[in-house]
Amino acid sequence: MESKQNRVNFGSKIGAILAAAGSAVGLGNIWRFPYETGNHGGAAFILIYLCCVAFMGLPIMMAEFTVGRRSRANTAGAYKVLAPGTPWRGVGYMGVLAGFLILSYYSVVAGWTLEYTWQSLANGFAGMSSGDYTQFFADFSANPWRSVLWMAVFMFMTHWVIIKGVKEGIEKSSKIMMPMLFIFIVVLAVCSIMLPNSEKGLEFLLKPDFSKVTPSAFLAAMGQAFFSLSLGLGCLSTYASYFSKDANLSKTAMSVGVIDTLVAITAGLIIFPAAFSVGVSPDAGPSLLFITLPNVFQMAFGGVPILAYIFSLMFYVLLALAAFTSTISMHEVVTAFVNEDWKVPRKKAACYVTLFCTVLGVLSALSFGVLADVKIFGLTFFEFLDTITSKVMLPLGAMLVSIFVGWYLDRRIVWDEISNEGSLKVPFFKVYIFILRYFAPIAIALIFIKEMGLW
Ligand code: TRP
Repeated sequence: MESKQNRVNFGSKIGAILAAAGSAVGLGNIWRFPYETGNHGGAAFILIYLCCVAFMGLPIMMAEFTVGRRSRANTAGAYKVLAPGTPWRGVGYMGVLAGFLILSYYSVVAGWTLEYTWQSLANGFAGMSSGDYTQFFADFSANPWRSVLWMAVFMFMTHWVIIKGVKEGIEKSSKIMMPMLFIFIVVLAVCSIMLPNSEKGLEFLLKPDFSKVTPSAFLAAMGQAFFSLSLGLGCLSTYASYFSKDANLSKTAMSVGVIDTLVAITAGLIIFPAAFSVGVSPDAGPSLLFITLPNVFQMAFGGVPILAYIFSLMFYVLLALAAFTSTISMHEVVTAFVNEDWKVPRKKAACYVTLFCTVLGVLSALSFGVLADVKIFGLTFFEFLDTITSKVMLPLGAMLVSIFVGWYLDRRIVWDEISNEGSLKVPFFKVYIFILRYFAPIAIALIFIKEMGLW
């Protein structure tokens, strides 16, 4: 295929790693990981999580890389190239659909991070009482204009990066935003740990409590690992289609996994020491980031208003950056598909994706307010999209890509991609294949059955 020859690549290895890490590092790391950790036994959960990343996340990530780089096509096109005329392309289509759906509701929360950045900038949180924060969030998220507006702004920012292209848009923005994110997160964690009484927060996060290690902790760790590493919808396979021939797939996967995990743990080092320092018990879900924390930041640094101001502003900018590099990666999955599969020029393809995602995003945004009573299977629109994607489509996608590379794809191809045609040593090849063939699919099938309530 001649289009393969003309296809763009990331310009550098570090650019490729930062782009993939940008996809992985997102709201999942800063919002969900710390909470899951606190809830499931602190360091004991971190240990399980690390095993999930090492023994399932990384092999599946390498499988996605293999599919992407070998085919040099978007995720649906990839299966058409590697398994022509078979139903495997359905896995690609499901990935594109999941990317589209996740992008639409993820942008709503991403939009909130902009509102909170804006409020922090305008010093709008100073002097509020703890009840005010709850009220502020309730009013804001239910306001049909503001949340929709910020969601649309976020979508538009994402669009802007996508139309600049793979090298000038995705790679360049990751090279700027990821280092910024690293600096912010380290500074915030250091400040948080230096607060008085922060040890209790450290203890909550890090002290292993094996009594909380129940089967559900394993399930939570696995689900969290997939979502956090951006697996299951062909996001990383799309990025890998822009990797150069000499990129080392296992090393790249390792780097992305390490960065993603370090960011997640460091986010916990920001949230819990600060929360415990002021005696607030951290809670779950959106309220942690958008109700508890603004309050915690004001209380923790209340004596020195300028510190509270800076800390809060940095934190919400950090969240926005993390979310931004993730929305870019989801948008790219869909745009690359519309562009290559439907032969729509890239910019036009991006416009369609942005437009349709925004429309769907409006429904998600409104489900916190005027559409709160519209329920699908007892869930609001936002919750419904979140559930079918993260509980059904992602695990299914991850399982199928594992089976595809483990069983269907010619072993020679798998070897060529992992070893760069024999030029790299791959001592773990047999283990890798074993995981893809047996371990990962079975483990995922078990979570799946459990999550569906069938077990
Ligand atoms: N990994 C990102 C996070 O932690 C979200 C994300 C981006 C994602 N692309 C994805 C999740 C693809 C699943 C699949 O927030």
